[in-house]
Amino acid sequence: MPSPPRLLTLADLSVPQIKRLLTHSASLKNNTLPWLSTHGSLSFKRASDLSLPSQSLFGKSIALLFSKRSTRTRVAAESSTVLLGGRAVFLGREDIQLGVNESLRDTTRIVGGMCDGIFARVGDHSEIEEIAKYSPVPVVNALSSLWHPTQVLATLLTLHEHANAFGETPTDTTLKRFSSKDFLPELPSLTIAYVGDSANVFHDMLVTFPRLGHKLRVATPGGREGRYGAPTAVWDRVVELECDKNDGLWWGTDPKEAVHGADVVITDTWISMGQEAEAAQRYKDFEGFQVTEELCRAGGANPGWKFMHCLPRKQNEVDDEVFYGPRSLAFQEGDNRKWTTMAVFDAVFGHWDLDGDRWLT
Ligand code: CP
Ligand code: NVA
Repeated sequence: MPSPPRLLTLADLSVPQIKRLLTHSASLKNNTLPWLSTHGSLSFKRASDLSLPSQSLFGKSIALLFSKRSTRTRVAAESSTVLLGGRAVFLGREDIQLGVNESLRDTTRIVGGMCDGIFARVGDHSEIEEIAKYSPVPVVNALSSLWHPTQVLATLLTLHEHANAFGETPTDTTLKRFSSKDFLPELPSLTIAYVGDSANVFHDMLVTFPRLGHKLRVATPGGREGRYGAPTAVWDRVVELECDKNDGLWWGTDPKEAVHGADVVITDTWISMGQEAEAAQRYKDFEGFQVTEELCRAGGANPGWKFMHCLPRKQNEVDDEVFYGPRSLAFQEGDNRKWTTMAVFDAVFGHWDLDGDRWLT
């Protein structure tokens, strides 16, 4: 029996594995959405042209072991598990013995003994490492202090779908199947600006975008080595994957400089879950970091720049004009959490295979 796969950060995946997951996400979306919207109203013959995804989770239970709040990640997990034929079992921190009567190690062994996969949202990253160490079944990180891999897959799928905004043909949404050798058409090399806190979602961008040929321009108060810069554990992975090489990464302190030449501008909350006590200091330190039309005009972003955000969003980090305006892809990215999570669940929990030999057909 092979050891169960785990996905704790996109740094754990090769570039072909990331591309296969994105391709599979697009394929699942392009097959399943029309099926969902037309099922029951089509003639049998036409309905049979469309299909539900493979029922790789049929009879399986996936534990959602969440010690923090969630809207998108939870709904994406629950709604995609059912489409793969399985059942998600939500275990919030108030529901189970964990942390009150039982250790994480023992909880993991018990949950993993009855369920077929664990999707865990934790506080400190060491907790998901402990879960992965003791789990007899595959484990996927649903957000930790350091990483949020499933979010950044949704960022990338959304960029593919809006490639026309960057002068390329968008992904053909009528394409129903990709062969195991095909990938989504390549995106052009983009300049992506990140303005804000060096937090979990951004860390997965750091270890992914440069490897896919995109340039990342970053501004955090104090810069890379300052209080809001990259933790050592993250920077070690950046260096290991050479994401700091070949002009792939620029990191300074001035948001205007960071958005220079940007095709895409991204931010996240300044106060991640668990940092509420630091709110007053953070609001002070992040002054001038709000993403606005004016900031991007003054900094010289490309005139057609697009805005992205993992959500949930507060006005501090991006104003309403940008967030609800035509530049914003934040809600499209939110929708894509479902299809990218489904691809990950199919590969990791359904087939125990991240290389796509069995599931990407
Ligand atoms: N983006 C994201 O992970 O949202 P939730 O915290 O609502 O799951
Ligand atoms: N950085 C944010 C992301 C939420 C999806 C947090 O950890 O709260």
